[in-house]
Amino acid sequence: MRLAQSTYVEVADYLKRSRGIIVPTGSTEQHCPIGVMGTDHIDAETIAWRMGGIADAMVGPTITVGISEHHMTFPGSITLKPTTYIALLSDYILSLVSHGFERFYILNGHGGNTATLNAAFAEIYNHLRCARGTGAPDVRCKAMKWFENDVCEAKALELTGHTARGHASAAEVSVAQFADPANIRKAKLDPEYGPLDHTFYNSEDFRRRFPDGRIESNPEHASPDIGRALVETAAAFHAEQYQAFLAD
Ligand code: NI
Repeated sequence: MRLAQSTYVEVADYLKRSRGIIVPTGSTEQHCPIGVMGTDHIDAETIAWRMGGIADAMVGPTITVGISEHHMTFPGSITLKPTTYIALLSDYILSLVSHGFERFYILNGHGGNTATLNAAFAEIYNHLRCARGTGAPDVRCKAMKWFENDVCEAKALELTGHTARGHASAAEVSVAQFADPANIRKAKLDPEYGPLDHTFYNSEDFRRRFPDGRIESNPEHASPDIGRALVETAAAFHAEQYQAFLAD
């Protein structure tokens, strides 16, 4: 079920049987010369929709922009300030809390969001405790990167020969290609790409270390078929994680 395509009557019915919701998050930022800007949020959304089907769970509207400060020398990249992201996520989640949602599974497509997601959760818990004291609902938020687990990593290695943890990995580019053929680009990339070392400082420094935007990746051989297989693997894995989160 997608919240954006549900009526309020349907949402009220859903709340009679579940307090959980999946929230896809990502970014709009460069993904090397052949990966589209929306890769991270398109991937999270595609997997979340499939996952929602498996787990019979509501999926909230996708948060399409995130923390992308280090990609800002590449045209088209958009970043939020951390304070904006915290405010956005807090307002989103607290709105749903007021309707009775209590379990928020954030399916994240962008590693750069992680620290700020956790800061937002602290902000939300603080707000609920201060505003409502001991009468606050037992709201719980969990953020999971879709690709950062042994199951998805093994599948990515099997299908692409590379880790899914790099930036503009064949895995993440494949999922976006599966989501929409309009996301497919083909070009030869420099085979000399940097190590899987996410050390960098500001956006200029990032550009110096990773001139074409990739970090330990070569998405030249990305394909919609690989993407389909990864979506199935990731959706099944996260549907299980989601059920365990609700039952905890
Ligand atoms: Ni990405």
